[in-house]
Amino acid sequence: MKAIVYTKYGGPEVLQFKEIKKPYPKDDEVLIRVRAVSVNDWDWGLLQGDFINRLLYGFIKPKRNILGSDIAGRVEAVGKNVTRFKTGDDVYGDLSGQWGGLAEYTCAPEKALALIPPCMSFEEAAAIPQAAMLAVQGLIDKGKIQPGQKLLINGAGGGVGTFALQIAKLYDVEVTGVDSTNKLDMLCSMGFDHVIDYTQEDFTKSGQYYDLILDVKTNRSIFDYVRVLSRNGVYVTVGGSIARLLQLLLLKPWISMISKKQINIVALKPNKDLPYMNQLFISGKVKSVIDGAYNLKDVPDAFRIFGKSEHKGKIVITM
Ligand SMILES: NC(=O)c1ccc[n+]([C@@H]2O[C@H](COP(=O)([O-])OP(=O)(O)OC[C@H]3O[C@@H](n4cnc5c(N)ncnc54)[C@H](OP(=O)(O)O)[C@@H]3O)[C@@H](O)[C@H]2O)c1
Repeated sequence: MKAIVYTKYGGPEVLQFKEIKKPYPKDDEVLIRVRAVSVNDWDWGLLQGDFINRLLYGFIKPKRNILGSDIAGRVEAVGKNVTRFKTGDDVYGDLSGQWGGLAEYTCAPEKALALIPPCMSFEEAAAIPQAAMLAVQGLIDKGKIQPGQKLLINGAGGGVGTFALQIAKLYDVEVTGVDSTNKLDMLCSMGFDHVIDYTQEDFTKSGQYYDLILDVKTNRSIFDYVRVLSRNGVYVTVGGSIARLLQLLLLKPWISMISKKQINIVALKPNKDLPYMNQLFISGKVKSVIDGAYNLKDVPDAFRIFGKSEHKGKIVITM
């Protein structure tokens, strides 16, 4: 089968288009003919070999040689213990921890997968798993979003932000999106009530207050965020600078003790809310914002675009 393989850490140039052996499913796995896969920040970290990923997944060189966690495709074979899926089913899910999606075929444990509803394309499905789970778990589970609130999404134009806006709008909240100049037109057309260009304006100094902040970048001091939270406001981060996240972890108990404001960090529960996303998709309340689609051979270019952060929504590769 054709796959994008990497054997050393580096930039997109270390990603090689290769012919390799087709995998075979274990007893609790399904074999999937991959039709679409999306690029996540985690793939980028694994490609580059940042410190945390080296600690977990190979210090000198990567232990897993095929990136790609968020896949959509058709079940081609099932292991003998698989009960939820059969050959011919269309499925999607987040295979992070195992990866292997940037290939014509991959194996996945059945617990990582959900059925794709008939109204959802493979491309739309592949865009959903990690980004939408972070949006749902950030806004609903940790943020406890409530109707009438003022929400700010920092890093609004990528995967998490574009899903988060659509989910937030189900709660009738006023949403401000922060991103760079070239993303603002898209944010306005998607329905953000206000947009802020972070290259021109610092939202932590604007004098505006927010009931809920969802942050995908976490690039500022916790004190800046706390300053623009309203009384009882909640700040939720899904990721960003490791130094800033450590600061948050250390100071969050003190901040809740001396003020009524809450600081929360999302630890992704992969695939937990795929059934909820299916419902929203079927009822037409949410759609995937797709950048691409790219072909398997174009994966290095797709990663270059991701690395320069030129993408809008989710970069999707189709096969
Ligand atoms: N919590 C967990 O368990 C977990 C698991 C997986 C991933 N994650 C995290 O989830 C996040 C992924 O988010 P995503 O998929 O939405 O990423 P994304 O698609 O890369 O989007 C990030 C957006 O932020 C913008 N941005 C960059 N610098 C900014 C700044 N200083 N201020 C405001 N916006 C800025 C980027 O555009 P420009 O560069 O053009 O400005 C881009 O539009 C990452 O932080 C990742 O580490 C967390």
